[in-house]
Amino acid sequence: MTAKIPVSVLGATGTVGQKFVRLLADHPWFEIAAVAASSASAGRPYGEVVRWRETVPLPDRVARLTVAECVPPLAGPIAFSALDADVAGPIEQAFARAGAYVVSNARNHRMDPDVPLLIPEANADHLALIDRQRTVRGWPGAILTNPNCSTAALTLALAPLHRAFGVEKLFVSTMQATSGAGYPGVSSLDILGNVIPHIDGEEEKMERESRKILGALGEAGVEPAAFAVSAHTNRVAVIDGHLETVSVGFRRRATPEEAVNVLREFAAPACVADLPSSPRPPVEVDLRPDRPQPRLDLERGRGMAVTVGRIRPCPVLDLRLVLLGHNTIRGAAGQGVQIAELLVADGRVGRDR
Ligand SMILES: NC(=O)c1ccc[n+]([C@@H]2O[C@H](COP(=O)([O-])OP(=O)(O)OC[C@H]3O[C@@H](n4cnc5c(N)ncnc54)[C@H](OP(=O)(O)O)[C@@H]3O)[C@@H](O)[C@H]2O)c1
Repeated sequence: MTAKIPVSVLGATGTVGQKFVRLLADHPWFEIAAVAASSASAGRPYGEVVRWRETVPLPDRVARLTVAECVPPLAGPIAFSALDADVAGPIEQAFARAGAYVVSNARNHRMDPDVPLLIPEANADHLALIDRQRTVRGWPGAILTNPNCSTAALTLALAPLHRAFGVEKLFVSTMQATSGAGYPGVSSLDILGNVIPHIDGEEEKMERESRKILGALGEAGVEPAAFAVSAHTNRVAVIDGHLETVSVGFRRRATPEEAVNVLREFAAPACVADLPSSPRPPVEVDLRPDRPQPRLDLERGRGMAVTVGRIRPCPVLDLRLVLLGHNTIRGAAGQGVQIAELLVADGRVGRDR
């Protein structure tokens, strides 16, 4: 009989933390054993302090857990971090030093040369960086990171195209949901009936993280992919789901039909395809002229699939397309859970107790 693996959620009261709680509530391999947040929330039952924003009831068992301070050790070998970036750095390091695998959604360690920045379908081999990290830093645990939410959707869709045709340059403009700013996020008076053409630090994150994710793992770490990215990021009055319009130029010219075929044939490596959170397929192509749309297409693959449409020639670069990804599932908690599943499938965390 295999017992479930106890796990902790840091920043469990926030937007991403709540999504972790929801996704882990009935997970086949993991069981929430601890929830932690700031000292303002600690010491009280989770059900009392959380402003639960999910559309399913808060599970009773988790509601009764007492919120802990974000201080190691907490229960289990895996700590999911949904911490605010202002505080995530030293807390995540302390947990890794204490022996935990920290799966982080914060930006703090994403670009560290010994920290993997993972989209399992695209770069599961980068997981090997944690061996170097543990040696260099002398930690029994390790930090693994999820990309920024808009980068996650973009890069999953680009991964098969990059492999087939070699991305050379790309222009991306985003329409990003308000939940991407956490809770309570952007004031309703600022966003309703409006578009805000600035998200602090987001364009830089898209430009550098996409190149690390699609880069090649070598002796010296990850050699970033050699393409140029021009990102324009905008906040729009959508609750969940980031829509992105992309123009892309390739080293080897591609027709729309070739790109459609490559995207439709894209499959995760076997070690990833069988994970409980992995969608099949990871990229859905929808060629109806007015798709994808956040309200209609966001739940594909239980929020883990990216939908790509409007694949057509571009008069400036080679191709144009539109893509949609769920910012708190593929762009945060869902993929965080998938990364933890990869740790288990890779034999780094045991399922037997
Ligand atoms: N929202 C998204 O779509 C998204 C996507 C990808 C990545 N991310 C990243 O994920 C992280 C969480 O984002 P979010 O949107 O969930 O933010 P959020 O709603 O503002 O939640 C922040 C969490 O951090 C906790 N926290 C704040 N200060 C703390 C402290 N001093 N010590 C311990 N815990 C503290 C909060 O606890 P209290 O409730 O006790 O204050 C809360 O649980 C951020 O790094 C963000 O950039 C977010």
